[in-house]
Amino acid sequence: MNEMSLTGRASDLTCFAFAPAAAAFRPVSPRRSGDLPEVLGGRYRIERLLGVGGMGAVYRARDLLREQFGDPEPYVALKTLSTEFAEYPDAHALLYSEFALASRLSHRHVVRLFGFEVDTPSQHAFIVQELLEGPTLDQLLDEHPQGLPWADCQSIALPLLEALAYSHGCGVLHGDLKPGNVILADDGLRLFDYGLGQSVAGRLPGLPRLCRSRIAAWTPRYAAPELLDGAPLSVATDIYALACLLYELSAGSHPFRRVDGRQAQNIGLDRILQRPAHLPSRCWPALRTALAFDPAKRRIDAVELLAVFSASSSRLRRWLCLSHG
Ligand SMILES: Nc1ncnc2c1ncn2[C@@H]1O[C@H](COP(=O)(O)OP(=O)(O)O)[C@@H](O)[C@H]1O
Ligand SMILES: [Mg+2]
Repeated sequence: MNEMSLTGRASDLTCFAFAPAAAAFRPVSPRRSGDLPEVLGGRYRIERLLGVGGMGAVYRARDLLREQFGDPEPYVALKTLSTEFAEYPDAHALLYSEFALASRLSHRHVVRLFGFEVDTPSQHAFIVQELLEGPTLDQLLDEHPQGLPWADCQSIALPLLEALAYSHGCGVLHGDLKPGNVILADDGLRLFDYGLGQSVAGRLPGLPRLCRSRIAAWTPRYAAPELLDGAPLSVATDIYALACLLYELSAGSHPFRRVDGRQAQNIGLDRILQRPAHLPSRCWPALRTALAFDPAKRRIDAVELLAVFSASSSRLRRWLCLSHG
C-alpha cells in the first residue's frame, strides 16, 4: 500500500468505532496476547486457547458472574486480537465492526455474540460469544481427503446456505467464508468469524464501514477475482467463496487447485472444472454458476443454491411418490 492510497481513503476510515463513547474510553492501544490477564473484564476467567486465526485469538473462559448464580454451564468463548494483528491501527475498530455486524444476527446456524467489552486495566478489547465445541470444516476435510458422501455433504451445505441466506437477507456480508470459519458444534453447524464482514451497500446505516485497503482483508483461495482487483465485498463475492467451500466438501479438493481466483482465471482453470463425483448432477449447473470468475455471470444467490441443494433426488422422489400414493 502506498501513502497516496492511505491519504485518499482516509475519509472512509472508521478507526473511530469507539468514538461516540470516546470520552469514556482512552483509545485502546494494541497489546500482546501474551499479556492477557487471567481474568478479563473482572468477570471472565481464561481457561485455555481454543484457536488462532489471522485476526483473533479465541479463548475458552468461565463467566464467574453466571457461575456465582449457579449456572451449570457458565462457559463462553472470548475473541481478542492476536498479537500480530493488534499492531494494525484499525484492529480494534475491526473487532468492534465484527461485533456490531454479527450481534444483529439471530439464527440457529450463526454464532451468537453476547457482548463487546474492554478490560480497562489491560486495555484488551474482546468479544464474548457462545462457546462452540466440535471440529471446523477444515478439520473435517483433513479427515476426508476424497470428499464427503452426498448425504453428509448435503447435511452441511443446507444449514450453511441457510445461515448465509439469512445473513444476506439481513444486509450482512460475511467476507471470509472458508472451511476454517464453519464449525460443526454439538448442537448443529455454526457460521462464525464475521471479522471481515460488512453491511450490504446502502443497508444498515450507522454501522462501521472500514477502509479495507488498509488491511489485506481476504483469504486468497476463497477470494473472488474481482475482490483481488480491488472491488468491494458483495453478495457475489460471498457466493464465490461459499461455492469453493461446497465444491471442496464434495470433491475433497479446492476447485482451482488451491490457487486464488485471479490466477485460476488467468490459467483458464474453469475450462477443466469437473463435477465432483459425489455431487448429484442436478446440483452441478448451480454450483458451476456460483463459481463463475466473472461476477456478471455469477447469477445465483444463497436462497437459490439452497433450493437446488435441498431438492430431493429424483430416485428418492420416485420412491416417495410410490410409497406414499
Ligand atoms: N465461539 C467459538 N467457540 C469455540 N471456538 C472458537 C469460537 N470462535 C472461534 N473459535 C476458534 O478460534 C479460531 C479463530 O477464530 P476466528 O473467529 O476465526 O478468528 P480469526 O478472525 O482470526 O480468523 C477458530 O478457527 C476456531 O478454532
Ligand atoms: Mg477465522
